[in-house]
Amino acid sequence: MNKSFYITTPIYYVNDKPHIGHAYTTILADVIARFYRQLGYDTFFLTGLDEHGQKVQEAAINRKIEPQDHCDEMAPRFIDLWNKLHISNDDFIRTTEQRHKKVVQDFLQLVFDKGDIYKDEYTGLYSVSEERFITEKEAESDNFRDIKELKEINYFFKMSKFQAELVEYIEKNKNFIQPIHRRNEILGFLKQPLADLCISRPKKRLNWGIELPFDTDYVTYVWFDALINYVTATGYGKDDNLYNKWWPANYHLIGKDILTTHAVYWPTMLLSAGITLPKTIFAHGWWLSESAKMSKSIGNVVNPLDLIEKYGVDPVRYYLMREMVLGQDANFTMESFIKRYNSDLANDFGNLLNRVSTLIKKNYEGIMPEQGSKMPEDEEVVESANQLVNNVDKKVKQMKINESIEEIMQFVRSINKYMEDQKPWALVKDNKSSAGRILYIAGESIRIAAVLLSPVMPNRCAEVLYVFNSGRSTNWGELKSGSKLNDHKTLFPRIQ
Ligand code: MSP
Repeated sequence: MNKSFYITTPIYYVNDKPHIGHAYTTILADVIARFYRQLGYDTFFLTGLDEHGQKVQEAAINRKIEPQDHCDEMAPRFIDLWNKLHISNDDFIRTTEQRHKKVVQDFLQLVFDKGDIYKDEYTGLYSVSEERFITEKEAESDNFRDIKELKEINYFFKMSKFQAELVEYIEKNKNFIQPIHRRNEILGFLKQPLADLCISRPKKRLNWGIELPFDTDYVTYVWFDALINYVTATGYGKDDNLYNKWWPANYHLIGKDILTTHAVYWPTMLLSAGITLPKTIFAHGWWLSESAKMSKSIGNVVNPLDLIEKYGVDPVRYYLMREMVLGQDANFTMESFIKRYNSDLANDFGNLLNRVSTLIKKNYEGIMPEQGSKMPEDEEVVESANQLVNNVDKKVKQMKINESIEEIMQFVRSINKYMEDQKPWALVKDNKSSAGRILYIAGESIRIAAVLLSPVMPNRCAEVLYVFNSGRSTNWGELKSGSKLNDHKTLFPRIQ
């Protein structure tokens, strides 16, 4: 049986217009999922939408339509974008689906029956924009809009009961929260006593949510609903085989803005329900634009659709993956996008393919020459290709995606250098078989680089493999001599 690999993105608020930040998390998950599939893992990649809560209810009321209709109209904006970005998700979950509502209610009942949910009166400051009660200190910061004082009877989850257990778990499991500075942040946060979590909303205030199974006057708090999507999609409570195959998730990929909900709320909920904790919660940084977080309210968002239309999907995917060091913030600028595109894709990768295929067409009737017996400089190339395959495998498993891409590009550059040193274009007049050997070595190197870059740029790399009529093995020597190259356009035309 193959090893299994389960990766998730946050489920996005259905009200948001998807921007490059949302696209980033989803592309990142897609790239990782494709890498693991390529490595032979059975892979389950989940994304979806978070559809309940106050903001959706208000938006629907403003439009004088039912919240469900509102969600059904909004959902295609995400689905279309994911299609356009060639996202290979295996499932798309919406929290308004019946399968999810059932799991949330079963989960709530289970935690209630364990005695971990109680009813209490609560007075506090409530942030409508964040849909949660906030502390007075938080209210003083400018991070919250629409703050109201609320006095309400509500249900509470005994989060405090699991504080010590959670701290111990995080301390024992070094990879549970990554990168390490986020782990430290959470351990720091958990030094203060943890409050219990208000997990209900009275229907008279908000009814767009999942009803509590033990009190029909209330719906559940959006986060208690949303987080559970990660187990719903595995078949929890419905199909034990699938559930056992996928759960616990290998990665919950999230942005740093939702670390506390994932690294504190979610694990304590799971501890109460007696469900194994996910293996890793990985928080990436933000895409900034002019040094501010991209967000709808600031109005500095980059629209991924405009970019794709202008430059193609793969270059956008490449840029996002290459430019962000996982865990840190990165700045999105058109200038750096164009620079990256021209130097890495047009110059290094695209040109190499052009040079090799043009020489083969001109001198070998377009037929891939024989590899022949290798010279020491060829052996060096083979060795560095093999090493590259191992390094990329290792780096991806350590979530060093940008480094793995950089290594592939270094290899590509070294092949450009190899071509310059060996000069097959000059050699071909007197020594056709040596020149042929060099072109084979360069061609096979391009093929392997294309296989390794396929998770990042699935389309353009498939084109490269099509040019060479070749498969996706990363073993040296798979490239077929004697087969006719297919014609191709310039892979990455330079941006002026
Ligand atoms: N619905 C919640 C998540 C529930 S998960 C159980 C939510 N949704 S969201 O629509 O606001 O999307 C949040 C995610 O989008 C972030 O965690 C992050 O992954 C991504 N990003 C949104 N803006 C971003 C940037 N400017 N930069 C990078 N990623 C950002 O929170």
